[in-house]
Amino acid sequence: MKGLILSGGKGTRLRPLTYTSAKQLVPVANKPVLFFGIESIVAAGITEIGIVVGETKDEIRAAVGDGSDFGARVTYIEQDQPRGLAHAVLIAEDFIGDDSFVMYLGDNLIAGGITGLVEEFRELGPNAEILLAHVPNPQQFGVAEVTEDGRVKRLVEKPKEPESDLALVGVYMFDHHIFDSVKRIEPSARGELEITDAIQDLIDRGLTVHPHVVKGWWKDTGKLEDMLEANRIVLDTLDNGHGVEIPEGSRVEGRVSLGQGVELIDSLVRGPVVIGAGTRLDHAFVGPYTSIGKRCVLERCELENSIVLNDCEIRDIPLRIDGSLIGRGARIVKTDFKPKAYRFMLGDNSEVGIT
Ligand code: G1P
Repeated sequence: MKGLILSGGKGTRLRPLTYTSAKQLVPVANKPVLFFGIESIVAAGITEIGIVVGETKDEIRAAVGDGSDFGARVTYIEQDQPRGLAHAVLIAEDFIGDDSFVMYLGDNLIAGGITGLVEEFRELGPNAEILLAHVPNPQQFGVAEVTEDGRVKRLVEKPKEPESDLALVGVYMFDHHIFDSVKRIEPSARGELEITDAIQDLIDRGLTVHPHVVKGWWKDTGKLEDMLEANRIVLDTLDNGHGVEIPEGSRVEGRVSLGQGVELIDSLVRGPVVIGAGTRLDHAFVGPYTSIGKRCVLERCELENSIVLNDCEIRDIPLRIDGSLIGRGARIVKTDFKPKAYRFMLGDNSEVGIT
């Protein structure tokens, strides 16, 4: 079996971060979302991986390389425009050949990995296996209608009036029949070749599509709220213990991971928290469910339930920062300029919340 990871797309819902970075490289617990996907494919015993890339191809390549760091062999497949998930399958045909494959959307995270699912697909031998999850907002996903005896009847991409609450999770397994289907379908109203239509075509041709309802958590990290939730969930699985001696005047509580050379001065870190190498906390509180990148400076400020990327500076902030995603090299500092006022220099589509 081979792996196919989709890592194109524009990531519009994570702007402004995605103006300068691929959405799949935004970190959860200080690790790019995409790496979780690669690792779970390799853990399932699949080491031949194709990554479909778009505009952000250089950055993805720089982060993943030839895959050897993951024990995999990575081939990059370029998609000229985001033309849909089924189009990504279409252009991957040469790479996949006659093999079966698991397709993994690079911004998805799934509890416990995919090893059991790949085994199930191998054992049952259907033409396709899809993952489904009950969600409160099916309008935002591909939605499946499943019969009482557990067969997939119909799939609809982002229906206005969904017939069920079963959303398609971004992990799919296929045999070669999918290549005929992606050639038989037409672009949807949004101009894309939809994978839901291609799977519907398998069903219409009488081929077997096995549904697997996911029990654990699953996240599509396309939006801020989902990123923060994924961060909370992954931080909850942190190992206990940081192995670092805590200097007098500072305290570390709960599960905390501290990178090399993290400096704590009169600060409190309450886990679960990860802090990247070379970051300095000075009279700071870093609270539950927070990931801080490398080389940040946090002085006289409090943060919780947030993700802070590398090289940020946060100083002298009177109120606690909560529920925030702060991009690389951002500075949030108190100024003494007159007049006393807020001063912003924000990237396009930035968001600031003030109480
Ligand atoms: C895509 C699929 C959709 C699926 C979702 C899962 O949507 O088209 O069927 O439910 O991924 O993450 P997109 O994230 O491209 O809007």
